[in-house]
Amino acid sequence: MSKSVVEGKHRVPHPNPPPHSVSKDARERANAGEGRKGEPPWYAEGLPHIWLPYAQMATVRPPLPVVRTQGCRIVLADGRELIDGIASWWTACHGYNHPHISAAVERQLARMPHVMFGGLAHEGALTLAGRLARALPGDLERVFFSESGSVAVEIAMKMAVQLWLNRGRRGRTRFVAFKGGYHGDTTGAMAVCDPESGMHTLFAGLLPQHFVVDLPCDAESAHALAALLDRHADEIAGILVEPLVQGAGGMRFHDAAVLRALRAAADRHEMLLIFDEIFTGFGRTGSLFACTAAGVTPDIVTLSKALTGGTLPLAATVASRKVFEAFWSEDPAHALMHGPTYMANALACAAANASLDLFETEPRLAQVAAIAQALEEGLAPCRGVGGVKDVRVLGAIGVVELERIADVEALRARFVAEGVFIRPFGSVIYLTPAFTTASDELATLTRAVVRVVGEL
Ligand SMILES: Cc1ncc(COP(=O)(O)O)c(C=O)c1O
Repeated sequence: MSKSVVEGKHRVPHPNPPPHSVSKDARERANAGEGRKGEPPWYAEGLPHIWLPYAQMATVRPPLPVVRTQGCRIVLADGRELIDGIASWWTACHGYNHPHISAAVERQLARMPHVMFGGLAHEGALTLAGRLARALPGDLERVFFSESGSVAVEIAMKMAVQLWLNRGRRGRTRFVAFKGGYHGDTTGAMAVCDPESGMHTLFAGLLPQHFVVDLPCDAESAHALAALLDRHADEIAGILVEPLVQGAGGMRFHDAAVLRALRAAADRHEMLLIFDEIFTGFGRTGSLFACTAAGVTPDIVTLSKALTGGTLPLAATVASRKVFEAFWSEDPAHALMHGPTYMANALACAAANASLDLFETEPRLAQVAAIAQALEEGLAPCRGVGGVKDVRVLGAIGVVELERIADVEALRARFVAEGVFIRPFGSVIYLTPAFTTASDELATLTRAVVRVVGEL
C-alpha cells in the first residue's frame, strides 16, 4: 500500500458511475495484479463494496489493509507493523493470537463449531456461565448469552421491563441513563445513549423516550436526579450506567460514590440497577469487574468485548436471582422471549473459557497495574501543553483530553505514520492497550501521543 493511502490522498472508491463499472475496474486491476503498490488484490476488488463503520464514505480515508496480527502488533499488507494502542476496540486484552485461546478454539472447531441453543446445551456454554457467575459479585448468577454488546444491553432492558410486567406492575417501561453514556448502536440501546452520540434528535420518532440526565457527581445533579426519580418512579424500570468509566462517550471517569448513590436510589424506588460492563469488564479498570472495585452489586450486568479475549463475538447479560425469579412461573407468558440464533456459539464460548483461564494463570491484573503506572508516567508530559484540557489514567485506560480536535482523520493518519494504531474520537486521544503489551511497546505508544499532542 502506498504511503499516500495513509496520508489520505486516495478516497474509498465510490460506485457512481454505477457499482459494476467501479468494481469491474477494481477487479480488472486486481486480476492484472495492478493494485497500488503493496496493495493486495482483494483490497482493490472489495473496497468499492464495503460500507465502513462510523464513516462519511465520501471523505473517509481508506482503511489500512491488515494481513496478520501477533501480540499487540498489526501487520499491514505492505509489511509495516503497527503497535495497537486500543486492542481492537478494547477486546484483545491478552494481545492477538494468544496460543492458549487459539488452541481452545481449534479443538472446539474440530468437535463442534456451533449448535443452536434452543433445546440443546453444550459444555462450553454451561461451564462459562458457571465461571461468570462465580467471578461476579453477589447473586448475579443467571447468564443469558448473545453475540454483541448492543444486544446484551437490549436484553437487559427487556428483562427489566418484563420483570415489572410479570409482577403485575404496568407502566414501568422507561429508563434513567446518563449524559456521556454509550450503550450501543441498535435502536433500543441508542435510546439510552448520550442524546448526541445516540442521535436522539435525528432519530426522533424511532427511539423510545427515556430520561438521559447528568450523572449524580455533585450536589446539584444528585438533587436533580432525586427529584426526577420522585416524580417519575412509577414509569421507570431501571437505572443503566457504565460503572466507573463512560467509554465511547468520552472516556470520562467517576468514582464509586456515584455508583453507591445510584444503588441507594434504585433501592429506594424499587428500580433495577443495570451496570453495562461491556467496556469496563475483564480487568480494564484494574479489577476483574468495575462493580467489584466499586463494591456495588447491580441487579443485571452486561458483558462483551474482552469476554473472548478479542477472538470471537460473544456477549452475556447476567441477572441476579431476584430478576430471574420474576420470570419463574407456571405462566408461559412470563418467559423471557429472546433467543439470538448464534447465542452461546460454541467457538466463542471456548475462546471465553480460555480467556478466563488466562486471567487465572497469568498475572493480568498485576500487568494492568503496571500499565497504569506506565501510562501515568508516559502521558504526564502532555499535562500543561497548550490545548490539553485533562490527562487521566484508570487501570489500562490512558486519556488525553484536548480542547478540540480539528481533523480527527488527519490525527489518526499521523499516528499511523508514528507506527502506532490509535483512534482519537471527539476531543480525546486515548490508549487502551492489551494487558500483555511490553514496556517498550507501551513507551512507543505514549511517546507517540506526547509527540503528536506537542505538534497540535
Ligand atoms: C459500554 C458499551 N456498551 C455497549 C457497547 C456496544 O457493544 P457492541 O459494539 O458489541 O454492540 C459498547 C461498544 O463500544 C460499549 O462500550
